[in-house]
Amino acid sequence: MRRLATPQDIDSVFALYMHEKVVPFLGYDPMPLEDFRAIYRELLGGGSFYVYEHEGRIAGFYRAVRYPGRVQHVACLGTLAVDPAFHGQGIARAMVTEAIDTLKAAGVKRIELFAESDNATALRFYDKLGFEREGTLRKFYKRAGDADYVDEYVMARLFD
Ligand SMILES: CC(C)(COP(=O)(O)OP(=O)(O)OC[C@H]1O[C@@H](n2cnc3c(N)ncnc32)[C@H](O)[C@@H]1OP(=O)(O)O)[C@@H](O)C(=O)NCCC(=O)NCCS
Repeated sequence: MRRLATPQDIDSVFALYMHEKVVPFLGYDPMPLEDFRAIYRELLGGGSFYVYEHEGRIAGFYRAVRYPGRVQHVACLGTLAVDPAFHGQGIARAMVTEAIDTLKAAGVKRIELFAESDNATALRFYDKLGFEREGTLRKFYKRAGDADYVDEYVMARLFD
């Protein structure tokens, strides 16, 4: 079950965000909690950052941002992860399916996202959920300590 994240969720979100199996695939390099506070405030400020609860604890999170004006039928999914303790149990599928259903009900016709070209697990996951690869943002992403930039794929799923 999803709900909007609150300021009180910061410790759980931080722990999951900084998990060694998660942080390579989100927007920021590992950092201390004190530095994360400003990022978390910005995440909450958009009013579109959700946590997904399973068995009474936060098992995942994602952001779903709706664009304005002539692209208001488009939403962008991002900052998405599931606690590795729950991987492979269908949590992400349930979480994203719920997000898709809510966005569709609100009139969204296109859901897009960006996935690193070296994130085989996520690419397989999005593929299974019907997202199609539309293009490549070359040298879009760079992790601290990596010598090279990583390409990012644009993926989207369309609805009638
Ligand atoms: C990608 C991620 C969210 C998947 O979470 P999950 O809860 O393990 O995924 P699910 O159990 O719901 O799997 C859903 C589908 O994806 C497939 N899938 C998930 N992980 C997979 C893997 N490692 N290898 C192959 N397929 C995989 C499953 O087979 C499943 O398909 P099915 O329902 O037809 O069997 C999770 O691995 C994660 O948090 N990764 C780190 C953060 C990240 O990469 N975020 C995305 C940034 S773009």
